[in-house]
Amino acid sequence: MKFLKTLLLFVFVQASAQQGGMWIPSLLKGMNETEMKNLGMKISADDIYAVNHSSLKDAVPHFDGGCTAEVISDKGLILTNHHCGFDNIQSHSTLEHDYLTDGFWAYKMEDELPNKDLFVTFIVRIEDVTAKVLEGVSGMTAEADKQKKIQENISILNKSLPKESWQENSIRTFYDGNQYILFVTETYRDVRLVGAPPSSIGKFGSDTDNWVWPRHTGDFSLFRIYADKNNKPAAYSKDNVPYKPKHFFPISVKGLKENDFTMVMGYPGRTQEYLPSVAVNQIITDLNPAKIEVRDAALKVQDGFMRKDNAIKIQYASKYASVANYWKKWIGETKGLKKSNAVAVKQQFEKDFQQKVIAAGKQAEYGNLLSDFEKNYTEIREYALARDLFTEIALRNTEILTLGYKLYQLEQLYNTKGEQSFNDRRNNLINGLGDFYKDFSPAVDQKVFEQLFAIYLKKYPKQFLPSSLENSDASALASEIFSTSQLVSYDKIKELLTGDSKTVLEKINKDSGFKVIKAMADGYLKSVAPKYDEINLRNIATQRTYMKAILELSPKSARIFPDANSTLRVTYGKIKGYKPSDAVVYEPFTYLDGVMEKYIPGDYEFDVPKKLIDLYNAKDYGIYGSKGKMPVAFIATNHTTGGNSGSPALDANGHLIGLNFDRVWEGTMSDIYYSPDICRNIMVDIRYVLFIVDKFAGADNLIKEMKIIAPKKKN
Ligand code: ARG
Ligand code: ASP
Repeated sequence: MKFLKTLLLFVFVQASAQQGGMWIPSLLKGMNETEMKNLGMKISADDIYAVNHSSLKDAVPHFDGGCTAEVISDKGLILTNHHCGFDNIQSHSTLEHDYLTDGFWAYKMEDELPNKDLFVTFIVRIEDVTAKVLEGVSGMTAEADKQKKIQENISILNKSLPKESWQENSIRTFYDGNQYILFVTETYRDVRLVGAPPSSIGKFGSDTDNWVWPRHTGDFSLFRIYADKNNKPAAYSKDNVPYKPKHFFPISVKGLKENDFTMVMGYPGRTQEYLPSVAVNQIITDLNPAKIEVRDAALKVQDGFMRKDNAIKIQYASKYASVANYWKKWIGETKGLKKSNAVAVKQQFEKDFQQKVIAAGKQAEYGNLLSDFEKNYTEIREYALARDLFTEIALRNTEILTLGYKLYQLEQLYNTKGEQSFNDRRNNLINGLGDFYKDFSPAVDQKVFEQLFAIYLKKYPKQFLPSSLENSDASALASEIFSTSQLVSYDKIKELLTGDSKTVLEKINKDSGFKVIKAMADGYLKSVAPKYDEINLRNIATQRTYMKAILELSPKSARIFPDANSTLRVTYGKIKGYKPSDAVVYEPFTYLDGVMEKYIPGDYEFDVPKKLIDLYNAKDYGIYGSKGKMPVAFIATNHTTGGNSGSPALDANGHLIGLNFDRVWEGTMSDIYYSPDICRNIMVDIRYVLFIVDKFAGADNLIKEMKIIAPKKKN
């Protein structure tokens, strides 16, 4: 019996050992390549990343600094998510041409729409530069000095390391400062909108379905990269020509099945997989609940107004979506961390770690790390809580305070840099604020203020609460501010900001709204921030040594991947369903039938366009259907995070089979603890994308550009 248990455990560890991780594309040879081949991959590490010939990495640009895209034609056509292209689609939308609602399709290249600030960045080369970055650092003892020297080295190296004139060098840290890697990149700034489905397809299910499986969202949009005549980056010009990529992805519509190999390449933003158990515990018990409580209150207020008032619904749609996105994620993350006993798993890891330290005779170097963490995290607790509350309440969710903080910074700028800087910033502020007031409703924000300020008074650690505010009443203060402050309208704030610096500063210091944010900010910057930074710096140093120790004391075969840092990574796994809870099993594929099951006519989340219903009724799926059904989305065990949106999902041959856009609810804790049992990434099936482009939009000009690999006809 015991043996059987051990054997089962061994088998389980072996099976799950091949899951999770986001790997550096230039370092796949060896362990990763072997694992990938065992999972079914037919191409080689060299096909994914190479310097001397084209490889898959040449078709995967970072999209607008936050998402991922992939090149799908030799004319620079790229695919990303609808939610990644959202701002650009919105910026071209007017009441007459509402591309968000109705979709947009360029049937000729001349119709493609330029986007002012949109850019995509390709990676030319990846190189380890650790030794160069750490030159002259080893003799230093003070952490702040080390950091300063490292930053100096990086900025010198970024300038001096070889690159072409149109390229950039960017050095990034890996493994918490144990490795430094150079990325030579090329950024293209003429990127035009080519196509987007209506939101009722591209955002189908909206916030209700966000972070949830089963999913039915056609979350994609199409853009095109333009270059100068030499195929080099250039600012927008009508003389620019479609970019000729070094590689573009062939698209496979041959069909998928459970357990097929998949890999995802993209730019995951941030993970914290090596946090000690004390830190994870703090996230679960203190930090996530505080942030969730603040957002929960703000969202309830906004939602109440949005449901009653159409103008407010339009004003707050995008803000609401972005606040709701991480609110919902933190709820899922907290649940998942609890359910998977992440703290206990980490504690066990720490026990083993401590034994390895002793076995290696490294107590002097590594013996105190865990107790240092314990000390630091206990000490930082109230500061971290205050920091999150201040950020969420004042800088993120109460608009009048966020705005007031800009004036606070203006005053600081005057104090440190003087009149000229003050004037420049003031003028910029006034220009930029038009957009803010267009979408600002004082009625909504007054209620938000009332709710969030009450949380501030109740939850902000007492010892840090500014004495001028501690006896205030949230509701009375809200009415006072929203009836007297000049911050509530564009006209009034323009008036407030008129005059020389002295006059302006005198005026704003009398403003009721400004007074509140000034007291909050002064208090935070005086009694919270300095101490937080000091302890945090110690934590950063401890985390770096901890990471070094983990790398050093683990066997060569251990799967230790660097945390995400917005650099290009490869993650791989299998198409796989999962069991979210007792007696429930989720299948890995969804179909158009599910869209129709969720359909609520006229609903703002679950409406379906008539044309799509017609295609469904006619079962007019062309080569994209499978056994009479239209596939929509699928899930797999790829380890992804925010930033991976829009990433290509590839099959064993490196052909495009889908587009990553989300993760499943039960597995949103994967940023802190990845469990192969329940962590899944969600991808839109490429066949659904092509079906929408071809059958729904009739854009066969685009289909013709692509290289589509269809199954051989059987008759
Ligand atoms: N949850 C996905 C990601 O983090 C999709 C977000 C799209 N936004 C939304 N509110 N539905 O970004
Ligand atoms: N939806 C995320 C993104 O936009 C992806 C994720 O968090 O899984 O990058």
